[in-house]
Parts: sequence; structure tokens; C-alpha cells
Amino acid sequence: MNRLTKQQEEKIQDLLSQMTLDEKIGQLNQESVSIVGGFDVPFEELIEMMTDGRISQEEFEKIMSTAEQDYHEDDIRAGRVSSLMIQDPEKVNELQKIAVEESRLGIPLIFGLDVIHGFRSVYPIAIAEAGSFDTELFEKTARMAAKESRGHGVAWHFAPMIDVARDARWGRVSEGPGEDPHLVSEFARAKVRGLQNDHSSPGNYVAACLKHYVAYGACESGRDYNTTSMAPYMLYNTYLPPFKAAVEEGAQTVMASFNDLNGVPCTVNPFTLRKILKETYHLPGFVVSDANAIRECVTHGIASDEKDAGIQAVNAGLDMDMGTGIYRDHLKEAVEEGKVSMDVIDEAVERVLRVKMWLGLFDHPYVPEEVIGTYEELPAEHVALARKAAEESIVLLKNENELLPIDPKKKVSVVGELADKREEVVGAWSISWKEKDCVSVLDGMKERFENLEYFPCGGPSTEINEEEIEKAAKYGDVIIAVVGELVSMSGEASSRADITLPDCQREMLKKLLETGKPVVAVLMNGRPLALEWEAEHVPAIVEAWHLGIQMGNAVASVLSGDVNPSGHLASSFPVVTGQCPIYYNHPNTGRPGGKSKFTSRYLDAPYDSLYPFGYGLSYTAFSFEDLAVEEREDSLAVSVSVKNTGSRKGTEIVQLYMRDVTASIVRPVKELKDFCRVELEPGEERKVEFILPKQKMGFYNNEGEYCLENGEFKIYVGGNARECMESTVNLSF
Ligand code: BGC
Repeated sequence: MNRLTKQQEEKIQDLLSQMTLDEKIGQLNQESVSIVGGFDVPFEELIEMMTDGRISQEEFEKIMSTAEQDYHEDDIRAGRVSSLMIQDPEKVNELQKIAVEESRLGIPLIFGLDVIHGFRSVYPIAIAEAGSFDTELFEKTARMAAKESRGHGVAWHFAPMIDVARDARWGRVSEGPGEDPHLVSEFARAKVRGLQNDHSSPGNYVAACLKHYVAYGACESGRDYNTTSMAPYMLYNTYLPPFKAAVEEGAQTVMASFNDLNGVPCTVNPFTLRKILKETYHLPGFVVSDANAIRECVTHGIASDEKDAGIQAVNAGLDMDMGTGIYRDHLKEAVEEGKVSMDVIDEAVERVLRVKMWLGLFDHPYVPEEVIGTYEELPAEHVALARKAAEESIVLLKNENELLPIDPKKKVSVVGELADKREEVVGAWSISWKEKDCVSVLDGMKERFENLEYFPCGGPSTEINEEEIEKAAKYGDVIIAVVGELVSMSGEASSRADITLPDCQREMLKKLLETGKPVVAVLMNGRPLALEWEAEHVPAIVEAWHLGIQMGNAVASVLSGDVNPSGHLASSFPVVTGQCPIYYNHPNTGRPGGKSKFTSRYLDAPYDSLYPFGYGLSYTAFSFEDLAVEEREDSLAVSVSVKNTGSRKGTEIVQLYMRDVTASIVRPVKELKDFCRVELEPGEERKVEFILPKQKMGFYNNEGEYCLENGEFKIYVGGNARECMESTVNLSF
């Protein structure tokens, strides 16, 4: 499926032999649509005005809708453009026609876009979806997104985002599948299959772009774009595995990350790009820079000027320049001066052409007329999948005295500004959604609950209204308080130094609790939050993230009990922000945190997370018994009996962890190795078996060598990373 035919290979060589140096460099150039007029200030200033609040996002969008745009038609005609970021199918066809019919060699453009968690149908943000631990779901949502975007001419997704992220201050934790390398790798593989593998029609698949390569998720202090330093063993064991897995699965392209890694920006890093990605993992396609990242190498202080940055980038193995025009403007001279070899250029061009060929763009460059407009009304199947994904991603964090589920006949007060905001359900990095498709929490609740009133009461951008609080308490038998973060508080450039509930929402919860009515907090947020106070005082807490277009219906299904929640956390939740970065699979210390003062702990905060990785409650309960570990020739067979001990049908996420007790490198205290979803009727008991290949029980050392070392291993199985059954085996490999 990932191979090109002999004829396609020949066509690429034939094109290469005909291309001028200018045309070759053109294939390495991605242009952004330039805003060239229609307003009075320079475009950069306009962006700044929106960022610092001088104009609102709506005003900005209004200006943009009337702005004059340059689509680089002349450059496309001259073969100087390879790729653009747009999503309007008519514009795609118009520009593609110029490339195919009017450029000398007729090489099609490739249109790329950030399709991070759905296109027109928006699914849960990745950190939420990962918590479903459902690899089939990961694949299906990707497949739908591929179809919808390809129907708009977008054949290349800047996704999946597979940065392992362990510091919830970093806004981009929302975009990725969490803190664990195994879960992130499984997510990565499934997304690649979903995006790339349905070749039943050229309109059904796209090229994945793995990002951000690499270790961007480890940016120091959770501040976006910040520096990253790490020992090789950490890089190989934690941050590289998802990329390795996804390239094995056939991922076509990769995006280099903004950060420097041990002093070398990933944009110009020959070790990560050439040595690891291309020579060791054998990436079939090309590497693109992140937006403007080549130019930023001058600011990093690694390149003396733009030309130098371009030379370093292309020599390091960075094939396509996103948005700076530096390759376009400087590479020819660099080749003529002998600073970049023709082999380097040819390799990069060949990689780009291979992806275009693999996508079928030479044979099917256009969006077929009959497809344009297909997704104006979302197909029922896509909406149903969005709902299922949202339902499976919800995590029940607390449910004192079985406050939940709520009988839909009861009188319910819904409060909180966020409940009534359709635009707030989609989450960070959603581009192609329409408000008409979004179901707010209030919309969904109204649909399901018969006696319901809404009282705004306050939120992240509005003050508390005490009168409303009184009214809410008077009306409802129970109060559903929707609190959390606005979409703009997570995602790129949205790091927070304090990850408690923003603004006056804790105050609002306090006042609601003072009324004496039972309160359920429904959280809408893009990152793990520090919920120490809420966990102590609010009787029921539902983590509902930003769940996409079907958010409201999914929340209503869970609150009413139509759906028994089954999501588990893909990221640890700290007690307080100061614990960040906090993750379950940390290397052990010589003084593990304990009661005594001279252990690895804080004076003023606990050592452990509030809610660990893999945690999630259900309206029923599960017990684990009879853990058995049997050694076979190449694997361990690990079995456990899981029983539904409650009175409702429910799904448990059964998790297999291990620990290598003594090794030549300090190993994590626990490492996830496998997981599965098990649905059980009340009283039902099932034996769950995992096969853990011995080959997967090793680790990389600081030389990047994979080691399997004899000795004692602990095997754990449980419903979260903290509470597990345990067994010990001694292994000789
Ligand atoms: C982000 C990338 C994104 C790119 C193109 C950058 O700012 O870091 O994740 O793919 O923009 O939109």
C-alpha cells in the first residue's frame, strides 16, 4: 500500500531528469496565502492587534474576509510553488489547474492543513480521545477526517500530533494523546492507518504528517517554543517511540519541531532528521519545517542569516520550507556556491514527488465537481461517530454517594457561561467546523432532561452573578455547573503558569455549594487541571474536555446514565501546578517520595498526582482477581479475571504495566505495555489475557542501543496506573 509501482518510480526519475534547478527548488517551497491589502496596517501588526486584544477575533475575521489575498498564481505557473495551505475546494481546483495545465512540467500542488481532530466533523481533542483507549475509534475518526478534507482538496494533514507531553502548563497538551509513550504510539499507528490506508478511492486517503519532531512536548517549564534538553536514553525511550511506530505504520511525512534539542534546533538537526528519521526509520516521504521555523533559526542564534539557516536546514534533511520563502530565495545561490550539493536537492525533491505520486495527485489532481459541497450537511454516519467518540472520551473523576447518573425527570439547573457556548465545544486547532453543527452542553441537556432551566451565573470571561446562583439553587434538585477553560486557553501559544480553574469559577462553585444543593462539576478544558479544591469539595466531577461537535449530547448521555462513562485519563492530573511536570512513569530515585523529610518530595504539596494516568470511574464497579503470569518462549502470557461487581453494564480499561527492577539504566517505576477495553454485564466475569512479547521488555541505553537485560520484572494489571495487582518474574533473554 505504501509502495509505488515501477511506472510511478520511472515517472519520478523522468521528471527529475527534466527539472531545472529552479523547478526543483520550487518543489521544496510551501507558500502561505499572503494577505496583501484591504486594510490600513501591515498584516503582522493586525495579528499583533488581535493577540494583544486591541481588536477582537471577530473583528479580525471580518477584516480578513474582505482582505485581498495573494495565491501566488504566477509562481505556481513558473513551478516555484509545491504546496499551499487552503481548504476551499473551488480555489484548490483553480490553483491546481494552473499547476497541472500551465506549469512546464505539470506537477500538481499538494494542499495541506491542520486537521488535528476532525475536519468539518470535529471529534474530541486528542488528549480526550486518547482516554477512550480505543484504537479502532482513533482509526475511524482519522478515516472520516481524511474523507472530508480530501473532499475539500486537502490531501495532507499536519497530524497526528504525537508529542509525548507531561507538563500540563504547556497549552499543546490538548493536541496530543498524553504522557505515555506506549499509548501515544498506539494512537499514532491507528491515526496513520486511518488517514492513509483506505485506497478504495483516491478521495478516501491523505498523507499523514507526524509532528512535532521531536521532544517539543518536553519544552522547559511548559512554556511554548522553549528549549529542550534531555539525555539520549530519555529521547529514545520516551519521545522517539511514537515517531518510530508511526513511520513503521507507513506515515508519509514528518514536521520538524520549533524547539532546540540539546542546543540544536530540530529544524537544522542532522542527527534527528537524517540519522534517525531517514537512515534508521526509513521515512518514505519528506520532512517539512514548522511555520517560519527556518527563519527562526537566525533568532535562535544558530544561523547567521536567512541563507545560512536555509543551507543548514536542507543539509540537515529538512525537505520543505513552510512559509518563509528562504529555500526559494537562497538555495540556488547556495548550490552554485557548492554549499548545498545537487544530491541533497535531488533527494529532497524526489521525496516530495513520491508523496504526491503516492497520493494519486498526478492522476487525480482535482476535487471532482460532484464532491464539492458534499459535506455542507454532515453525513449522519459522521455525526454518529462524533457522538460515540465524545461519549467514550468522558472521564468520571468523582461520584460521591452516587450523585450521578441523574434521573432525567428531576429538576436540573444548568449553570456556567461555558454551557451555552457552541463555539467552545470544538477545542484548540479546529479550523473547518460550522457553528450550526455544534451541540453545546446546554443544547444536549435540554434535549435529554425534561425539567431544565439555564442560569449563566458566570464563567471564564464573565463575572459571578449571585442572583442567578440563588435562582439556580431554588429551581434545581441538582445543579450542573459547567466550568473550565475557553478554547483559547489551550493549544499553541497558550501555556499557563497556574492551571487551576481560571478566573472566578472556583468562587462560583463555592457559592453554588453554599446553597446546599448537590453540585456536579462538568469540566470543559484542554489540559489536565489542578483540582485539589474541587476534588475535596464538589461531590461529583465529570471531565468532559473539549469533545467536538457532539459534546452536548455526549455529556447529556453520561449525566442521564444512558451511557456509562468509560474514559480513563491519558495524562496525570496534579494536585497543584507546582508538581508539573508530573507523570506516572518517571524514573525511580534513590529516595522515592515518602513520609520522611529526606525523600524526593515537596514540603508543601503531595508527592503523587491527584488522579493518576489511566484513572476513570464508572457507574458500576470492577474487581480484578487471579493475576497469572506464564513464561513462554518469546513472550509472557499475563491473565487476570475482571468482574463487574455493580448493577450496570459497563466498560473497564484493563491496563498492563511492567517494571524492570534492576537494569544498567534507571528504569521507570511503571511502564504501560498493553491495554484493552472490556465490556461486562452486571455480575459478569471474564478472563483477560495479554501476550507481552519479551522483545518489548527492553529499553534504549544512552548510546541508542536496544537492551534486553536478564533479571527481575514486576508485572502489574489494573484499572489505573496506581491501583494494580502485582506479580514478579525472573527472566533470562
Ligand atoms: C504549528 C504547527 C502547524 C503549523 C501550520 C504552527 O504554528 O506549530 O503545528 O501545523 O503552524 O499551521
